[in-house]
Amino acid sequence: MIIYVNGRLVSAGEYVLSPLDHGFLYGHGLFETMRAYNGRIFRLEDHLQRLETAAVLLNWPELPGRLELSDAINSVLKHNDLCNASVRLTLSRGIGAPRPDAASCGQLTVAVFALPLPPSLPAEGWRVATVKLRRNLSSPLVRIKSANYLDNILAKAEAKRLGAHEALMLNTDGMVAEGSMSNIFLVKSGRIVTPDDDSGILLGITRQIVIELARNAGIPVDIRQVKPEELAGADEIFLTSSIMEVIPVAALDGRPIGDGLAPGLLTLKIAQLYREFA
Ligand code: PDD
Repeated sequence: MIIYVNGRLVSAGEYVLSPLDHGFLYGHGLFETMRAYNGRIFRLEDHLQRLETAAVLLNWPELPGRLELSDAINSVLKHNDLCNASVRLTLSRGIGAPRPDAASCGQLTVAVFALPLPPSLPAEGWRVATVKLRRNLSSPLVRIKSANYLDNILAKAEAKRLGAHEALMLNTDGMVAEGSMSNIFLVKSGRIVTPDDDSGILLGITRQIVIELARNAGIPVDIRQVKPEELAGADEIFLTSSIMEVIPVAALDGRPIGDGLAPGLLTLKIAQLYREFA
């Protein structure tokens, strides 16, 4: 596998990350996971914008330019002969002193790799389980794709222990937030509902596209605080992420959703609209 690191294409086995990199020492990093369709990164500008916003929050020095990052991604795809792939761009604060002081760090570490897409999903939909871990509303970190994903890792592991594919994370106010790697939507009486931007969620790019596609198709979308009971009483539930696109949910906490015949009609419609658009 050929990867990109700090301006060079290298073989993945050859590259050694410094143990003094603050990404490794403290999880001081950011990432984007993107999907390539026919060799083109879907919504690259949106991913880079989200990355830039997060870098400002973390007070980072200037990132490499968009053109440089996009060239890096394209060369990785080309050198690995991948057209439809999952592409991971990771930046860390770089090498510094072994203390959590970013001022001791030099230049950012920038890495890109691409992988074939994961196997397709069970057509009948995913099982989701509500986990104990909450999205912390007082932390700005829930809004960014920080390289410290320990909360998400714990949430996913808890969901797996409960026999589910994905976790449902509530926020510290007890309202619905998101999955460990996905945003969440419900369908009730022909309307689509999704937690708003202040619910302790990552502002997913797929989420935004789904909102726009649904509205353009005349399907009403409510973006607001969502109570967990609403999910339990939903006609349909689906999740979204760049890699998995639109994922129907078959069961929540062991109970089937709607008539138990996931995917529901609106979920199928949204998944189809997304497919045509991407
Ligand atoms: N995850 N919420 C969380 C916590 C996520 O990690 C992700 C994406 C999303 C969906 O965001 P988007 O639609 O922009 O992909 C929501 C990526 C795919 C990952 O885990 O690598």
